[in-house]
Amino acid sequence: MARWLDVDPEVFRAHFNKKPFFIRHTLANHPLFSLDRLVKLSQDLPPSYVEWRAGGLNVDQDPALTPMNGLSAEETLRQISENRSYLILKWVEHDPEYRRLLDECLDQLAEHSEPLYPGMWKRAAFIFISSPNDTVPYHMDHEHNFLLQVRGHKVVRQWDPDDRFILTDREIEDHYANFKHRNMRYREEFGPTAWTLPLPTGQGLHFPVCAPHWIQNGDEASISFSITFRSRWTRRRELLYHANANLRKRGFKPSPVGENPLEDIWKLSLMQTASFVRRLAGKSQVEKRQY
Ligand SMILES: [Fe+2]
Repeated sequence: MARWLDVDPEVFRAHFNKKPFFIRHTLANHPLFSLDRLVKLSQDLPPSYVEWRAGGLNVDQDPALTPMNGLSAEETLRQISENRSYLILKWVEHDPEYRRLLDECLDQLAEHSEPLYPGMWKRAAFIFISSPNDTVPYHMDHEHNFLLQVRGHKVVRQWDPDDRFILTDREIEDHYANFKHRNMRYREEFGPTAWTLPLPTGQGLHFPVCAPHWIQNGDEASISFSITFRSRWTRRRELLYHANANLRKRGFKPSPVGENPLEDIWKLSLMQTASFVRRLAGKSQVEKRQY
């Protein structure tokens, strides 16, 4: 099996799902990230898996209100250095070649993550292509997540997901159960407590689950490969936040997730009854990546 990643086991053990940390990768010249191959991928994926719009977004911009750039996906990709745009290829594991690459990367990460967070599942990958100096607005992702910088340079500003001034428990609950759009409320007061993390080509960065972040490109076009997965822990957490949202709708005041372990066990057993889960069907966003 090809080994694309260089991971320090001690750093992984110390920081996984707690703090950001860097890994190295050797994907910069991989043919699956050439512009021609990315154009083909954009044509092969279901249309709903390809999103492109004008760049230059505000830090908490609603993606649905972001203007189109007047170009096709292919034009956007081929002229990405000049057209001040971004394009996202979602769930690229739909394509067998990208699926194989994702599996090779995640099999390698699983060697380190399984002893800590067992039950890797829902492997998914995304490719972000964006213009020089573009910004990815402030948001969070609820998967275990590594962002591998394949071309260009970025600076990521990331916050502690356990800092309840930065990210309240209700915001996390709304993200899971009342999702509106992927970008979040940002306040200037958050700035000083951000981790500022340079991401040059060849570097990868770990994002703990629901660590808020926004991203600034350097002065050349950027290609990033996001490799993600879930675990038994993320499943339990999703269920608990959905339980809290449902209890709140019924007039209860549930404890924040993790604050009362006995209450959490009770809420999980509630969620695990088939009828309760069925009532959630159709309202749940848990199956979707919030992109
Ligand atoms: Fe993200």
